[in-house]
Amino acid sequence: MAGPTPQEPLKTQQKCIAIFALLCCFTVLAVLIFSSVDIWGDDEDGITEENCSRDCQIVLVENIPDDLSLPLDSRPHLPLSLGFNTLLDQAKHSVEVVSPVWALNPWDLETTPSNAKQGQLLFQRLLSLKSRGVKLKIASSLTNSAELKTLAAHNAEIHFVNMTAFTRGGLHSSFWVVDRKHIYIGSADMDWRSLSKRKELGVVVYNCSCLALDLHRVFSFYWQLHERDYIPSIWSKRVTAIYGRHDALELQLNATEAAAYVSSSPELFCARDRTRDVDAIHQVIQNAKTFIFISVTDYLPLVSRSFRGTSVTRYWSAIDEVIREAVVLRGVRVRLLISFWKKTHPLTFNFVSSLKSLCMQLPNCSIEVRFFSNKEQEEDIQHGLNHNKYMVTDNAVYIGNHDWVGSDLTINTGVGLVIKMKNSLEDRAATILEQLKAAFERDWKSRYAKNLLGNKDQQGKYRNLKQGKMHMESKEENKWNNPLSL
Ligand SMILES: *[C@@H]1O[C@H](CO)[C@@H](O)[C@H](O)[C@H]1NC(C)=O
Ligand SMILES: *[C@@H]1O[C@H](CO)[C@@H](O)[C@H](O)[C@H]1NC(C)=O
Ligand SMILES: *[C@@H]1O[C@H](CO)[C@@H](O)[C@H](O)[C@H]1NC(C)=O
Ligand SMILES: *[C@@H]1O[C@H](CO)[C@@H](O)[C@H](O)[C@H]1NC(C)=O
Ligand SMILES: *[C@@H]1O[C@H](CO)[C@@H](O)[C@H](O)[C@H]1NC(C)=O
Repeated sequence: MAGPTPQEPLKTQQKCIAIFALLCCFTVLAVLIFSSVDIWGDDEDGITEENCSRDCQIVLVENIPDDLSLPLDSRPHLPLSLGFNTLLDQAKHSVEVVSPVWALNPWDLETTPSNAKQGQLLFQRLLSLKSRGVKLKIASSLTNSAELKTLAAHNAEIHFVNMTAFTRGGLHSSFWVVDRKHIYIGSADMDWRSLSKRKELGVVVYNCSCLALDLHRVFSFYWQLHERDYIPSIWSKRVTAIYGRHDALELQLNATEAAAYVSSSPELFCARDRTRDVDAIHQVIQNAKTFIFISVTDYLPLVSRSFRGTSVTRYWSAIDEVIREAVVLRGVRVRLLISFWKKTHPLTFNFVSSLKSLCMQLPNCSIEVRFFSNKEQEEDIQHGLNHNKYMVTDNAVYIGNHDWVGSDLTINTGVGLVIKMKNSLEDRAATILEQLKAAFERDWKSRYAKNLLGNKDQQGKYRNLKQGKMHMESKEENKWNNPLSL
């Protein structure tokens, strides 16, 4: 045997093993540190929380279908298509977009209204960003979208997020971040209907790099899930939330003092310090003193999960309970505007009646529910649909991507924007809160908002009508076919 004594090679061997083990440890550590801090976080263009801009302008953007005759209130609202185009005019470096749907080009031009052109125009403008040297980045869970393929062929960077692997939901967030400076959040998708026949509402915030930086971090979260099938346990610092419900961003919105933050869902997609949508909704409801006006397409406190091939439905009280508390225990006046359309789940009426019955025999207790429905929507279920998803109270607004449906909030991604106003109601005639309240009241008083619950016969009639209709539809058309399966 080589070596001076039989013991020495054993020692050397042990040393080798120890050094090797140490090296391994270092490598693993280094990989962890680099992957979590540098590689997974991308460049933030030198803007930091310290020197970002908080002197912002906010604009309410809406799409009101031509054939809805809503009384226009005195304050002009900006058409959504104009809002998107203004954002694209401002873009110098990058446009980041998340949308559940990509269908800006109507497939059948013959039967679509002339204003469907807005979608095509927007698509053309997105295609031409490259010629201006502006990067287009899109995160999506769509696997086979023709429009995304076309955009990719024109140099858009597209990252696929495999939602099937995470929650079996969809990447249903709907927002834009432009140059990490301007943002859009709202109900509209990249769908030509959002710019023509569907009623949409959102906000565009300009010159607001603080808020944009935070929303960009939500985008970065999606961006880094590209081709992954797990959520890393150690995340880049560059996806950690900067603001939240306990430390909102203090900012100026058109010279009005306010505080704001971005929330997101589902829980699995909330990076460190990120407030969940549900908690943001809680906070806004709990802080309301006199009124809460809510406008959502669907309201359903149920969660449905498929478990070993069978679907299990559970009551989901997260939002329902705080509404009840506000109404009964704090005497806050609540108005709920829901859409009545082909996909309204039949149990909606039961849950809503239950909410309404809370005020029986109670003085100073008020909860009202109306259903927004447009008779002419027969041929196309999206036509004239009120697709809004927001809440306005006496001191705050919440503008989100989700309907208030348990299953949506627990498996699909979405973001929300909370804005808390600083001053008392009197000296803020022209704030975003007043504009949103005016938009709500306009819809509430319109002839499309009906009180279907007032009259039992009426409700029964609608229900029978719906159920009669449902039987004639294919299963795919109507996901609420069986009342207990979502
Ligand atoms: C903000 O601060 C960072 C680092 O402190 C710096 O690199 C960057 O240039 C600053 N940006 C602006 C717009 O002042
Ligand atoms: C997404 O993830 C699921 C489950 O992990 C997998 O079966 C599927 O092939 C993935 N889809 C794509 C397009 O990668
Ligand atoms: C944003 O700021 C720039 C420069 O201060 C200004 O020219 C522009 O009008 C602002 N944008 C809006 C929408 O007010
Ligand atoms: C109901 O509201 C009125 C006016 O806001 C108030 O004076 C009265 O005390 C309230 N009643 C109860 C039972 O809270
Ligand atoms: C804020 O200012 C912009 C122009 O700078 C204006 O278009 C918008 O309507 C204002 N928003 C509010 C809520 O007054």
